[in-house]
Amino acid sequence: MSPLLLAFVLTIISYNEAGAVQPPTFKLNDGNEIPAIALGTGRGTAKESETLEDVRQAVYWAIEAGYRHIDTAAVYFDEEQVGQGIAQAIADKLVTRKDLYITTKLWNDKHRREQVVPALKDSLKKLGLEYVDLYLIHFPVAVKADGTSDDVHYVDTWKGMMEAKELGLTRSIGVSNFNTTQIADLIQRTKVVPAVNEIEVNPTLTQEALVNYCQSQGIVVMGYSPFGFLVSRRSASAPPPRSDDPVLVAMAQKYGKTTAQIVLRYLIERGIVPIPKSTNKARIVQNKDVFDFSLTPAEVEAINKFNKNIRVISISSWKNYPLYPFCEY
Ligand SMILES: NC(=O)c1ccc[n+]([C@@H]2O[C@H](COP(=O)([O-])OP(=O)(O)OC[C@H]3O[C@@H](n4cnc5c(N)ncnc54)[C@H](OP(=O)(O)O)[C@@H]3O)[C@@H](O)[C@H]2O)c1
Repeated sequence: MSPLLLAFVLTIISYNEAGAVQPPTFKLNDGNEIPAIALGTGRGTAKESETLEDVRQAVYWAIEAGYRHIDTAAVYFDEEQVGQGIAQAIADKLVTRKDLYITTKLWNDKHRREQVVPALKDSLKKLGLEYVDLYLIHFPVAVKADGTSDDVHYVDTWKGMMEAKELGLTRSIGVSNFNTTQIADLIQRTKVVPAVNEIEVNPTLTQEALVNYCQSQGIVVMGYSPFGFLVSRRSASAPPPRSDDPVLVAMAQKYGKTTAQIVLRYLIERGIVPIPKSTNKARIVQNKDVFDFSLTPAEVEAINKFNKNIRVISISSWKNYPLYPFCEY
């Protein structure tokens, strides 16, 4: 996205009745708008003590704090609790359904064209919703129910996604974890450009080539694992930056923010929708509080310099499967 357009979009900040600042939106290539930050509900970083009830509570707190976008997936097995958090927020009149933006994802064992609509209907039933705003192919890789490789091509899956959109079960369709070659191939073979590609982006995996390619095609990038190796769950041998890194601490002090907020803002400066996961009320609030300052181009570049092309999520057990995406940067 051009810096001018980004500046324009980010100035469209509104307030809800309680006075909480609403996140701005990015425009999608199908005419819809996507809120510029989403609450992550993936269970990959959940502590042992965290329960599915914590997900319901986190979704409610997030909506209360002004988030309008929630990211879930069939494979997180928490769509029911996400739906309960949404239902409670609507019942308490914090929002209406149309104020919210809900993203969910198709898992790899439902990639055959005829499986897509039933899989989405199953997700909708769990969420308690009539439609989602965004439905994503979670990975280009197809697997059988037992987890072994299956020979379904994502072009077949994409046709099922198009049918789901035509039926009004989702407002937009997109992909996740697709590399540049796969996106170009999908566009060339179907002529339907995904609205979104959800990929890992953080200081140690800046993905400049893939992000630039997506944005050149009008595809909005959503960035998962936005904190990368900043957060304490990572091993002691993980690469920098950590939350006490001097480069990030200097920026945090300059703007009166935390280093976690600096990293989220870094993604927003690049036109990327960050998806921070938290089930802690204070951190949920903190992570959304990133729309009242901006980083300079030099600061964005300084964070880009941390890049080492090291992934938090690589799923090496799929390395030899056809269509494994993480062989490109
Ligand atoms: N499409 C895909 O394939 C894919 C893959 C992975 C993830 N995702 C999505 O992206 C979301 C985020 O990714 P992620 O969970 O891997 O990583 P993440 O959001 O980068 O990190 C989450 C971790 O950071 C902690 N945290 C949150 N806010 C913090 C703050 N302000 N300061 C310090 N620590 C903080 C959380 O703990 P607390 O909860 O205790 O705050 C949690 O341990 C997922 O939930 C999921 O929705 C998508």
